[in-house]
Amino acid sequence: MILNIQKLEAGYGKLKVLRGIDLHVGKESVGLFGPNGAGKTTLINAIMGIVKPWSGTIEFEGVSIGGNATHLVARSGIALVPQERELFPGMSVADNLELGAAYVPRGKPVMARQLETVLTLFPILKERYKQLVGTMSGGQQRMVAIGRALMANPALLILDEPSLGLQPSIVAEVFDRLSILKKDIAILVTEQNVRESLKAIDRGYVMENGAVTIEDIAEGLARNPHVVSAYLGI
Ligand SMILES: Nc1ncnc2c1ncn2[C@@H]1O[C@H](COP(=O)(O)OP(=O)(O)O)[C@@H](O)[C@H]1O
Ligand SMILES: [Mg+2]
Repeated sequence: MILNIQKLEAGYGKLKVLRGIDLHVGKESVGLFGPNGAGKTTLINAIMGIVKPWSGTIEFEGVSIGGNATHLVARSGIALVPQERELFPGMSVADNLELGAAYVPRGKPVMARQLETVLTLFPILKERYKQLVGTMSGGQQRMVAIGRALMANPALLILDEPSLGLQPSIVAEVFDRLSILKKDIAILVTEQNVRESLKAIDRGYVMENGAVTIEDIAEGLARNPHVVSAYLGI
């Protein structure tokens, strides 16, 4: 098991958002769906140590990480592509990618290998290597953000709404890249675009009001009447 979450509760102040979440990720790609405000980002932030868990457990590769500081979670092998991209617009693609490896003191050979992986996955970043990120399109910036997370050579890549604000052709491309990536690393991805993401995931969860309401393989979700009416209908 890469990630194993049990009975997780967390929130803000007195507001309880996560009401006992059980979720796991193996060597696979897992989707996390649900309406706005369901608690998807809160769950991801609890994993990353940005939000403190109130109770329950979070284990990564068999080790408890619940409540650990964010930089320690990152160093243990989890990389986040946040909903807000948090890139450095005044810096080049090259510099943004290099910063992704900054957390992880693994030496130049590993960094060179990761850079090769990222530039192979997103050839546009090789073409635009010296370009300032702030002058690139939204889709290209999303690719920089994913590439930057991959520079840390994570065992688990978490993406929070990677398709948000992108045009359909770029969304398809992003999920196509994730399909390639999932052969090598575990992925947890939250999405509003359930239809596209079902092509790139093995399994998924639906979260509503801070609780998991459905858990199934991708094929099962695609046939589930509630998923169809709430997320796949026209
Ligand atoms: N920083 C915060 N302070 C207080 N409440 C928050 C904060 N962030 C999110 N919330 C609340 O937590 C709930 C879940 O939000 P969120 O985790 O962002 O959901 P999702 O990512 O599924 O849209 C919402 O009711 C939201 O208003
Ligand atoms: Mg969110």
